[in-house]
Amino acid sequence: MRVIALDGPAGSGKSTIARRLADRLDLEYLDTGAMYRGVAFAALRRGVDPSDADAVTRIARDVELVVDDGGIRVDGSDASIEIRGPEVTRAVSIVAANPSVRAEMVSRQREWARTRGGGVLEGRDIGTVVFPDASLKVYLTASPEVRAARRSQEVTDLDYHTVAADLARRDALDQGRDSDPLRTADDAVVVDTTDLTIDAVLDRIVELLDG
Ligand code: DC
Repeated sequence: MRVIALDGPAGSGKSTIARRLADRLDLEYLDTGAMYRGVAFAALRRGVDPSDADAVTRIARDVELVVDDGGIRVDGSDASIEIRGPEVTRAVSIVAANPSVRAEMVSRQREWARTRGGGVLEGRDIGTVVFPDASLKVYLTASPEVRAARRSQEVTDLDYHTVAADLARRDALDQGRDSDPLRTADDAVVVDTTDLTIDAVLDRIVELLDG
């Protein structure tokens, strides 16, 4: 099974790179952040407080999530736009810090790759927890300023300073949580994308795969 693990903080370029890499290698791609966002969305839609750990765990276990390129269906309805909105973005860190939610998502992610014979998976814990034996682990990073600038281009309704503050808050939560925090796997290759074009990052990763 050929699994490529791409981890790193928000705005490091993971989604763009994962999608393009999967295309080049003729593999499928999974955005695992979209799954945590899907659980947060389902909780909000059902009127459940995202910090109610037991209720959110039940939702994580029974919600139907179908993630495909650029989109997600949650219990049969398209929620691709909603999962990127401010409410879900505010709620997702607490949902992703819940160990039982993580156990459920990790098992779905392993199953996803098993049924496809591998794939490109992007997230925070792919190389450390989900696939510690991945064929290649890349940890993408970039300066906080560049990451905030990339994100504020994506979300047109928020200004740079709001996006930068939200990113700093999420970095702290993702890195500081007890359950599978964002960290670099010992055997991951760190690629700093601050001054690199998308093509340069892709070339570097393909070089690592061939090497
Ligand atoms: O990559 P993103 O911004 O869509 O991720 C949404 C949230 O989910 C973010 O707070 C980090 C968390 N996440 C995680 O804990 N583990 C993953 N494998 C992917 C995302």
